[in-house]
Amino acid sequence: MATKDKTLETLFLETLKDVYHAEKQILRALGRMAKATQSPELRSAFETHREETDNQVQRLDQIFELMGKRSRGKPCEAMQGLVEEGREIMEEFKDAPALDVGLIASAQAIEHYEIARYGTLVSWARHLGMDEAASLLEETLEEEKKTDGLLTELAEGTLNEEAA
Ligand SMILES: [Fe+2]
Repeated sequence: MATKDKTLETLFLETLKDVYHAEKQILRALGRMAKATQSPELRSAFETHREETDNQVQRLDQIFELMGKRSRGKPCEAMQGLVEEGREIMEEFKDAPALDVGLIASAQAIEHYEIARYGTLVSWARHLGMDEAASLLEETLEEEKKTDGLLTELAEGTLNEEAA
């Protein structure tokens, strides 16, 4: 692609592919985390967010469609690294008292990455006059923030103490 053709819309589309790939990885990671946790509350938080993540992928499909593009992911190395760190926690802290808080910490790192990405995408979509895409992305952004808050509550509620 010629440099002059690399517009904000190009960057938006590339970032959309990045989060598409990230969400697909998160779907699998949340399934593994729900299995690994010993806390019923945390399991249900992971399972709920897994269902939300399914919808989030569909919202991304809708946005690709709005843009007349095929849904396509592009390997998101940042998310691969975060998911890999989560996997290490699951292995190294298997059956340990600190397993659940470790899982929460990895899940929050993932949420924060998503919050950063969706925040940017919302603002670019608005800038590009893509109102429908902006509101779809905003719905997802709110879900990520809510999940992050819930994870903080769970950690500060009881799990940190249990781990100590
Ligand atoms: Fe997500």
